[in-house]
Amino acid sequence: MGIMGNLLILLLCSLCLYLFVALVKVLHKPWWTPIRMQYLMTSQGIKGPPYRFIHGNTKEIFNKIKETSDRPMNLSNDIFSTVEPHIYEWKNKYGKNFLQWHGPQAVLVVTEPELIIEILNNKDRAYPKGKVNRCVKKLLGDGLVKSKGEKWAKMRKLANYAFHGESLKLLPAMVDSAKTILGRGSKKGSDPVIQKEDPNPEDIARLKTMTMIINESIRLHPPVIGFDREVARKIKLGKLILPANLHLRIRNLALNHDPQLWGEDVNYFRPERFSQRIAKATNNNTAAFFPFGNGPRTCVGLNFALNETKIVLSMILQRYSFTLSPSYTHSPVRVLTIRPEHGIQIMLHSLNSEEK
Ligand code: HEM
Repeated sequence: MGIMGNLLILLLCSLCLYLFVALVKVLHKPWWTPIRMQYLMTSQGIKGPPYRFIHGNTKEIFNKIKETSDRPMNLSNDIFSTVEPHIYEWKNKYGKNFLQWHGPQAVLVVTEPELIIEILNNKDRAYPKGKVNRCVKKLLGDGLVKSKGEKWAKMRKLANYAFHGESLKLLPAMVDSAKTILGRGSKKGSDPVIQKEDPNPEDIARLKTMTMIINESIRLHPPVIGFDREVARKIKLGKLILPANLHLRIRNLALNHDPQLWGEDVNYFRPERFSQRIAKATNNNTAAFFPFGNGPRTCVGLNFALNETKIVLSMILQRYSFTLSPSYTHSPVRVLTIRPEHGIQIMLHSLNSEEK
């Protein structure tokens, strides 16, 4: 073979090598990384739906949610199986913590309270909040909810001051705006706290039954059904070793509807389960109920939201009793938060006999 022949072979070999390297590069993210991640997690006993090339489980998840949301729903509190049917099914099949795939991205769904508390209270910034997609960024902006590091710490300090230091001063303004909507008619309310004139901060703090009712409502229908974190570097979580770049999906909806934590009556509205300490309601698992998050990133608007709810509800109950309208269609859906797809129609019955 002459020089030309040798050159041709060399050229072909180089081309093959180049194509091979290019192929490895192309397949690294959608094939090699998921296979490796799946192996790392399976070897530690974490199972889950199998990874499908490029799509992961995205299509399956979409189809399952579409199927349940198209189905008419009974007036039931069992919303976990309809709002997050994939998590409901896979948690039962693979266990409390399992691996699912958003495209080639591995996501560990965590519904075990102890692990969740460990993640949310980590002090070494090992579990930062993830990147936000463009739609969410447009809605939430670049503010406290999604910021990280020093920027978050500065904003959080300011927000803590505004919400805690100043929030009691906001109560009269909340009462006034509720009055504008409800009118100033005479008040009756059956609860001794509610019977009084306009609610003041001491009254709000004493509304024990209402607090139980609010807790039970947000247990069954949590507005925020979960939140995400990322694993910044290889780290030990409980008995697991988590690799960097794994995404974590914390699901409080799954916890709130877990019969092992709440008992067989888990889907019944029973506010009395909150009549004593939370641990009493949760089979001694204090970590099981966190509708406003936990750790340093706990909801900064927690007291604001609860005070506002208590004020508005007590002022409504001073004037009206209410029942659900027959026109109400039960269809909880997730649009960022959980909400009733067709609104909630209620019938108000005035407590003032002259207005009936
Ligand atoms: C029932 C009503 C509410 C619920 C269930 C709720 C729930 C939550 C949860 C679960 C988190 C933690 C998210 C995470 O750790 O990734 C959070 C964070 C946050 N919430 Fe709320 N929230 C409510 C109302 C409010 C209100 C009324 C405000 C403001 C006026 C507010 C402002 C925030 C902010 C700024 C954060 C981020 C805090 C941080 O990262 O430092 N929330 N909320």
